[in-house]
Amino acid sequence: DASDIEKGTYPHYMLKEIDEQPLVMRKIIQKYQDDQGKLSMDPAIVDAVNAADRLYIVACGTSYHAGLVGKQFIEKWAKKPVEVHVASEFSYNMPILSEKPLFIFISQSGETADSRAVLVQIKELGYQALTITNVPGSTLSREANHTLLLHAGPEIAVASTKAYTAQLGVLAILAAVTAEARGIDLSFDIVKEMGIVANAMEVLCDQKEEMEYIAREYLSTTRNCFFIGRSVDYYVGLEGALKLKEISYIQAEGFAGGELKHGTIALIENGTPVIALATQEHVNLSIRGNVKEVAARGANPCIIALKGLEEEDDRFVLPAVHEELTPLASVIPLQLISYYAALHRGCDVDKPRNLAKSVTVE
Ligand code: AGP
Repeated sequence: DASDIEKGTYPHYMLKEIDEQPLVMRKIIQKYQDDQGKLSMDPAIVDAVNAADRLYIVACGTSYHAGLVGKQFIEKWAKKPVEVHVASEFSYNMPILSEKPLFIFISQSGETADSRAVLVQIKELGYQALTITNVPGSTLSREANHTLLLHAGPEIAVASTKAYTAQLGVLAILAAVTAEARGIDLSFDIVKEMGIVANAMEVLCDQKEEMEYIAREYLSTTRNCFFIGRSVDYYVGLEGALKLKEISYIQAEGFAGGELKHGTIALIENGTPVIALATQEHVNLSIRGNVKEVAARGANPCIIALKGLEEEDDRFVLPAVHEELTPLASVIPLQLISYYAALHRGCDVDKPRNLAKSVTVE
């Protein structure tokens, strides 16, 4: 119950929950470690993943966005094919399933009706399911064969923040543990790199003044805003856009940098804010090319780059983290920018209009 959880000195749950992210990340690492400090989880889950020939991630909203990033972890590290689906579309648009599918439901609340409808449907077909949720004993957890918990503590603000990064953390661990069980050697120390992520999160949470300044500079009066990125930055951009629209009511869209020229660039006017993520070396030149294209049409670009890839006019530099774990860090400035944009525009940050924390209707 929200009333039992104190905001303490925080003006809003959302800000408190953003700040909890470094702690949650450390807690997740600890919860999924064995006595020797190695990552581990219920062997039945690892077996279920390894027995499957394809994983189907099903989720809604922010949890869907986490699934998109999770697909990268699992495919790159564990070399297991993954499809990610929006729950509400899946039920009437079911893809042709592989021979041995495993379904992964990602849901902070574990109560989302659209996701549950798919779970019921696939159970009738005789398939197995794993639920990744923040709420032990929730419907999606009870009805699935397996559960992985987020250990993020109650999330009260309607806008999901710490649950998203916790979902990424747990998906990364799932991918790493599965890879290891399959005899695949990750070229880096995942526990160490996740610890570096937790430290980076702390550094980012300490930069609120700068985020408030960026929000004021780019978003105080604008009607719309674009988020662009390539590769995994595109998925984080989708999440940044969702966050901004749900709490500040600014029309926001996330786009793959390469898609801009296929239509969206027509929307760029003088002063349109374009928040660009540049955390991936292999697409750094291309995304910067996209920024030049929109800037030439009058856009007001705000580049957020990873340390080591930054250039002179970048607006903000993220602390260095492992290149494949950047979403865990790069989303934090986007969360904070949305928070301050909503605040400046006089919106009800924790309880935005027309939205409920968990959507228990179809
Ligand atoms: C996130 O900010 C949203 N409020 C919303 O998209 C949410 O992620 C979605 O409704 C899914 O909820 P769940 O994770 O509890 O299933």
